[in-house]
Amino acid sequence: MRISCRLAASVFTALLVTAAPYLYAQATSYSDKPPLLLGAAWYPEQWPESQWDHDLSLMEAAHINVVRVGEFAWSSMEPSEGNYDFGWLDRAIALAAKHHICVVLGTPTAAPPAWLTTKYPQTLRVDENGRRAEHGNRQHFSFTDPKYLQFAHDIAEQTAIHFGHNPNVVGWQLDNEYAEPDFGPSARQQFHEWLQKKYGTVAELNRRWATAYWSQTYDNFDEIPVRENGENPALLLEWKRFVSNTWKNYSENQISAIRPHADPRQFITTNTMGWFDGFDEYTVHSVLDIAAWDDYIDSDHFDYIDNAARHDLTRGFKQKNFWVMETEPAFVNWRKTNTPLLKGQVRDMAWQAIGHGADTVEYWQWRSAPNGQEEYHGVLIGADGTPVPVYDEIRQTGEEFAKAGPAIAGTSPHADVALVNDYDSRWAITFQRHSANFDPVGEMLAFYRPLREQAQSVDMISINAPLDGYKVVELPGLNVISQATADRLMAYVRNGGHLLLGPRTAMKDEFNALQPEGQPGPLESFLGGRVDQFYALDSDVPLTGDLGTGTANIWAEQLSVQSPETKVVERYGKSNGWLDDQPAILTRQVGKGSITYVGAWLSPALLNTLTTGLLEEAGVKPILPGVLAGVEVSRRSGEGKSVLILINHNTSEEHISLPMPMRDLIGSQGSALTAVDLPGYGVAVLAAEK
Ligand code: GLA
Repeated sequence: MRISCRLAASVFTALLVTAAPYLYAQATSYSDKPPLLLGAAWYPEQWPESQWDHDLSLMEAAHINVVRVGEFAWSSMEPSEGNYDFGWLDRAIALAAKHHICVVLGTPTAAPPAWLTTKYPQTLRVDENGRRAEHGNRQHFSFTDPKYLQFAHDIAEQTAIHFGHNPNVVGWQLDNEYAEPDFGPSARQQFHEWLQKKYGTVAELNRRWATAYWSQTYDNFDEIPVRENGENPALLLEWKRFVSNTWKNYSENQISAIRPHADPRQFITTNTMGWFDGFDEYTVHSVLDIAAWDDYIDSDHFDYIDNAARHDLTRGFKQKNFWVMETEPAFVNWRKTNTPLLKGQVRDMAWQAIGHGADTVEYWQWRSAPNGQEEYHGVLIGADGTPVPVYDEIRQTGEEFAKAGPAIAGTSPHADVALVNDYDSRWAITFQRHSANFDPVGEMLAFYRPLREQAQSVDMISINAPLDGYKVVELPGLNVISQATADRLMAYVRNGGHLLLGPRTAMKDEFNALQPEGQPGPLESFLGGRVDQFYALDSDVPLTGDLGTGTANIWAEQLSVQSPETKVVERYGKSNGWLDDQPAILTRQVGKGSITYVGAWLSPALLNTLTTGLLEEAGVKPILPGVLAGVEVSRRSGEGKSVLILINHNTSEEHISLPMPMRDLIGSQGSALTAVDLPGYGVAVLAAEK
């Protein structure tokens, strides 16, 4: 039981409570650097040196105190094979230091130079259809080619020898947005070796993959195709795991080059992409020091809950504070129509990141390159060197980071509820969606939304993370499950936890084969219920029961009760005949805990009601009750401090009563407040008046 739940008799108390220590959350800290950093991606190699001071002065004036440099600058760092030139980077970093700006150094391996790929064409990646990449874009390298790995190691090592003790370098970014696997000869050979190591014999692989199906039976590992589409789902799942492991090795290759030459205070990370599912982030992050991500909004308009989910996802990669390594200064260049964020939303997004545990927000990019693929992208200053309109909003944000930084230093978010993100399961569903709209991320978000609104703090975690600290754990789609995982989930419930399972849970074993005993496999007798049949839906099916009425769409499972202790919470109404009057949601109390199985993709209102009941039963309280929809409440605590961040994502002004007199750390009023009036996109950062 968490300390906070015993003490939280009132909201007043809850606001002051610092979190239980075993949730792992912790902040990044640099004794000599500001606790909250504001930054931008800066490419000094694209500009005459005579202009650098002008740029850095404008950065300093905007309270920018970190730049990321170097991540695509290989041809400037090593202009020809074995000839390194770090002089320009030395001077750029020294000049940044003069302007009180520290540096994250990127290893340039996402953009190998032309001399390298021309002399060693095997370093170029091969796509799934056998086509080798050409020079002229980026990410054109093979992540398995030994020659490429040697070059990547060498450039990382030389850079670390040069900058590993530079006091102004705070950390390292490996490569840039890992994404594209290779399907060439080295990848093929390594995949086969990896399978052999895992399965031992090809006979065992044939058994697990059920290759008698369509005469897929293999006689040797080297007959196995290397594909990410259209193959046996067991192969597809193993390919994704292999790719994850390969990116981990790819990281380790560079870490082993950097770490021996770098001060321990310099962190090593890479920049990730939210829900991107090309590999398992938990596998890759097992060898990184902190998590970082590139926060670009997912649709044409900013949806704060969607963005909140991706912050929480990233925080969960290491279960500690993270960096926003890139975000948009109002707009990007790669959507169909690159509409801007509205005035005020850039600052709103920056504070949202801090509320969710970011210790740094960096914009991509500082200044438009004079040419190149991204001329239209949002920036802080134009190619002409003059600030663009959003510069002022970012300057204001920087000023506020400086003001609130000391109160936020050493704090992080803490949550009583967790949502499990599982790559194996997301992949397994994606390979065989069965219902076109069954997007595993959409299902995660459907569960996340009411949790975020009602509990106001959610951890998103791996299935392998400890569960004990949470009052509620939700698994929207744990499609792939092993016996060991099932055992952990049952132990969690027996210890008083409340477990909520979504549709398609526990349909597959860890080889992506159907559970031999049916669904939900090893959880069936514990739940006291099973899935008799699943149906893809293309229209609404009515639901009725203890939660009231609602609908299911996209997916519906016909459930049956196997134990007298298991209760039916909702039933389907009249629909395709099969589902009529059949159970759709089951629940079973186990001591003080409970297990609930939701067999359908529920309408938002019904999922909302279900969430309310579950949180109530588990004793989960909001941080600040009674706030209007669109007002986001976050709290960071630690080191005896507690800071409340309120953001009004609505366009209209909202009045928010405070439970105690509080000081707005970024506002102009010096006196304690008992309420705040937040204009559209307004932000308040509050600490209890001492
Ligand atoms: C990605 C990359 C950056 C830049 C931005 C543009 O995040 O990491 O180099 O291309 O997109 O939005």
